[in-house]
Amino acid sequence: MQYNRILITGGAGFIGSNLTRKLVGHGYKVRILDNMSPQIHGDDYTQSQLYQSVKNIAEVMIGSVQDQEDWGKAIKDVDVIVHLAAETGTGQSMYAIEKYTDVNIKGTALMLDILTNEKHSVKKIVVASSRAIYGEGKYVCTEHGNVYPLERKDEDMAKGDFGAKCPHCGNDVELKATDESSMNHPTSVYGLTKSVQEQMCMLVGKSLNIPVVAFRYQNVYGPGQSLKNPYTGILSVFSTRIMNGNEINIFEDGKESRDFVYIDDVVNATMMGIERKEADYCCFNVGTGSAANVLSVAEMLVAMYKKDTKIKISGNYRLGDIRHNYADITLIKSKLGFEPKVTIDQGLGKFACWVQSQEIEKDGYDASIDEMKQKGLYK
Ligand SMILES: NC(=O)c1ccc[n+]([C@@H]2O[C@H](COP(=O)([O-])OP(=O)(O)OC[C@H]3O[C@@H](n4cnc5c(N)ncnc54)[C@H](O)[C@@H]3O)[C@@H](O)[C@H]2O)c1
Ligand SMILES: [Zn+2]
Repeated sequence: MQYNRILITGGAGFIGSNLTRKLVGHGYKVRILDNMSPQIHGDDYTQSQLYQSVKNIAEVMIGSVQDQEDWGKAIKDVDVIVHLAAETGTGQSMYAIEKYTDVNIKGTALMLDILTNEKHSVKKIVVASSRAIYGEGKYVCTEHGNVYPLERKDEDMAKGDFGAKCPHCGNDVELKATDESSMNHPTSVYGLTKSVQEQMCMLVGKSLNIPVVAFRYQNVYGPGQSLKNPYTGILSVFSTRIMNGNEINIFEDGKESRDFVYIDDVVNATMMGIERKEADYCCFNVGTGSAANVLSVAEMLVAMYKKDTKIKISGNYRLGDIRHNYADITLIKSKLGFEPKVTIDQGLGKFACWVQSQEIEKDGYDASIDEMKQKGLYK
């Protein structure tokens, strides 16, 4: 083992808590810096299962990445920083812009300032990026070859035309897997902050000779995912709706798709990033390499919970949402030998099983939609 102590910011969150357990199991000492955000952990974090799952195996510091002093204490005697703390709601980021830039960008800047200006023991930085940095991702136009469609137009979507279009000729385009060299053009403030986080870490890491590894996670799901947060995590949102006996409202025509990657695969990829030299200074997509449409996963969940939930395909849409995206995982396969092991059927089964063992959370979905409506972002 090359490293001893690892700092995980946001270590009490979904990915962080799962990573903490894995690292501790492998003999690492883990320190967590987490502000126990109420949106994730509820008003009393001491009751949060996520918190309870790490408090006895890691050194938990309650503090914020927005606070320089908290960073200073957290970095002491640390070999690797895994920077996961972030605000993560794509839709919410469009009307909480200062908050998203403060936590995600300033939070990262404070870390890099300390590494640049103070004595420290940090030998590697792993930063959580996101598929959101690509926006719509990669497509092919019969006339223009590989293209990166722009945000879809309100006027098209209002007519029920949800497909991505060629940015040059406006024709319909065919979906491809998005590779790491695809254009970065986020369609949300969240995506923009992730892109800045990643680039800032890479740039400063190179100048300091501290290797940086960025992981562009696709839609991560699995046990431990917050069931409280109505702003992100479509499988959690659906599950909470189903368990509360509410109908599911599917946006657009239900054919929009995502690359749903199971938490254990994400943790394995992240471990490889921490431990392997071959990962240094690389940005990796982390996904399964295939897309599942939203309607089909909703149907699978309803069947797994054995409920007769009504699934309504509403034609509603959110401005800034992308139509499709799935990862080309050639790079992480070839450089790190990563192979996603959990299929969507297996993963959803494990997730649904875990949800059924949980207390059903109050459903904050309608309120979150009302918020978006008020801001003119939900149609
Ligand atoms: N889950 C996904 O599908 C996904 C996809 C792409 C990227 N990511 C990225 O991975 C990282 C982890 O995501 P997650 O799904 O575990 O999210 P999460 O919301 O479950 O965890 C984030 C953690 O960060 C903490 N936090 C929030 N603001 C903080 C602050 N100011 N200071 C300290 N801690 C703070 C929260 O309390 C929470 O415990 C994030 O950077 C996210 O952008 C996640
Ligand atoms: Zn074209």
